[in-house]
Amino acid sequence: MIPSHSKILIADDDQDIREVMHDRLKAMGFEVVEATDGEQALIRLRDDSPAITFLDLMMSKKSGLEVLKAIQDEGLETTTIAMTAYGTIDKAVEAMQAGAYDFLTKPFSSGHLEVVIGKALEREALKRQNLLLSGEVREKDLPIIGHSPSILNTIEFTKRAAASSSTILLQGESGTGKEVFANSIHRWSPRRDQPFVVVNCVALSEELLESELFGHERGAFTGAHQRKRGKLELADGGTAFLDEIGDLKPHLQAKLLRVLQEHEFERVGGTKPIRVDLRFVAATNRRLDKAIREGLFREDLYYRLNVITVSLPPLRDRPEDIVPLTNYFLAQYCARLGKRIKEITPDAWELLQHYHWPGNVRELANFIERAVVLSTRDRITSEDLPLTVLAGAPESSASDTPRDFHEAVAAYKRQVIRETLHRSGGNQSKAASALGLQRTYLARLIKELQIREKS
Ligand SMILES: Nc1ncnc2c1ncn2[C@@H]1O[C@H](COP(=O)(O)OP(=O)(O)OP(=O)(O)O)[C@@H](O)[C@H]1O
Ligand SMILES: [Mg+2]
Repeated sequence: MIPSHSKILIADDDQDIREVMHDRLKAMGFEVVEATDGEQALIRLRDDSPAITFLDLMMSKKSGLEVLKAIQDEGLETTTIAMTAYGTIDKAVEAMQAGAYDFLTKPFSSGHLEVVIGKALEREALKRQNLLLSGEVREKDLPIIGHSPSILNTIEFTKRAAASSSTILLQGESGTGKEVFANSIHRWSPRRDQPFVVVNCVALSEELLESELFGHERGAFTGAHQRKRGKLELADGGTAFLDEIGDLKPHLQAKLLRVLQEHEFERVGGTKPIRVDLRFVAATNRRLDKAIREGLFREDLYYRLNVITVSLPPLRDRPEDIVPLTNYFLAQYCARLGKRIKEITPDAWELLQHYHWPGNVRELANFIERAVVLSTRDRITSEDLPLTVLAGAPESSASDTPRDFHEAVAAYKRQVIRETLHRSGGNQSKAASALGLQRTYLARLIKELQIREKS
């Protein structure tokens, strides 16, 4: 179903018809606009972007067929229902050929009107879903695996929060499952049958991101040949997930703040406010309070986003989840890669359980994938895991003699990375893949740990 505040246009020169329909549609909860002739109909279509248009075919100034042609030419998005007088079915057929979705012969009963509206709404909902799906594969609904008290508490808390329409901020280190939770929030919410859109705030340039979020008008910038609805408009009634919100540029932060406060925005190059009913979920692995202090993130936006915060625990703080997650990923990758692996040997379990997982669940998933790909037998042993190198006792050198726990861990990491770099001839990409890390993550570690390669 489409959100009930969607607009419907009634274009008919017969005042009685307009009045009857107006009352009926308003009672159904729609916002209704009217036009008394073909020219006005086009103006309303351009300015109000109605989701559905009832179009009388016999109107002055421009006929219904001419309006249909203009709808096609200008790429105006609306589902049109042609209205014809009784006995002129050939006109209705012509209208359908010109792009109308359905027709209604006058006079009609209110029951008939409701059936036609129902069909049009279904089509609109499908159309929006398709627009949202084009160019991206929607992740299927992923389960949240884990039975540690901390993940169970987090799930329980999030489920309660999901039932409302309040904004939720997901915080957690990289790979802790923020996207999985965002998806679940939508599924657990009363909006589950409405769209769920994901907007990654870092992936695009500022201009592209603005147009992706808010849409644009025809001619708003070079290359904007047609009006395009943004994700926030397409998600109306559903949930918008703003990933990596900490990276949003100031100009867009301001525009987003307005959406959160007033539930409206304008398309790029547009002047008409577009109202939306959205639940927002935002995620970040950056400390937003720090970004605020540095003047990179608006404080007022932070308070708007931070109505309910869900903090996702890092994997190292919930080692109980390592076994169920490992088994889950093992089953997934075996199925995907057509392999059969019967067991994980105790020494491999030992390694998995004692590693500190800086890349959290994603890192674990990557390790298991790699082990399944590389395994030549029907079991996974410690040799199949690139973690082997971490198992041995750290060999302490004079400069790395640990004094406290954190220093010891850092020294250990330094040693492992150095050794691996050495073995891969200083090639960071090779070292990263040997360690099962993302190259960028390894580069960051090297910087953070101030590792200078020993040859
Ligand atoms: N509890 C969980 N159960 C099953 N799979 C999980 C769980 N948590 C995370 N994953 C999986 O781990 C991977 C990383 O999760 P996700 O993308 O949600 O993390 P993230 O917090 O958004 O990370 P980043 O900050 O790097 O974007 C995904 O493949 C996801 O399916
Ligand atoms: Mg993510």
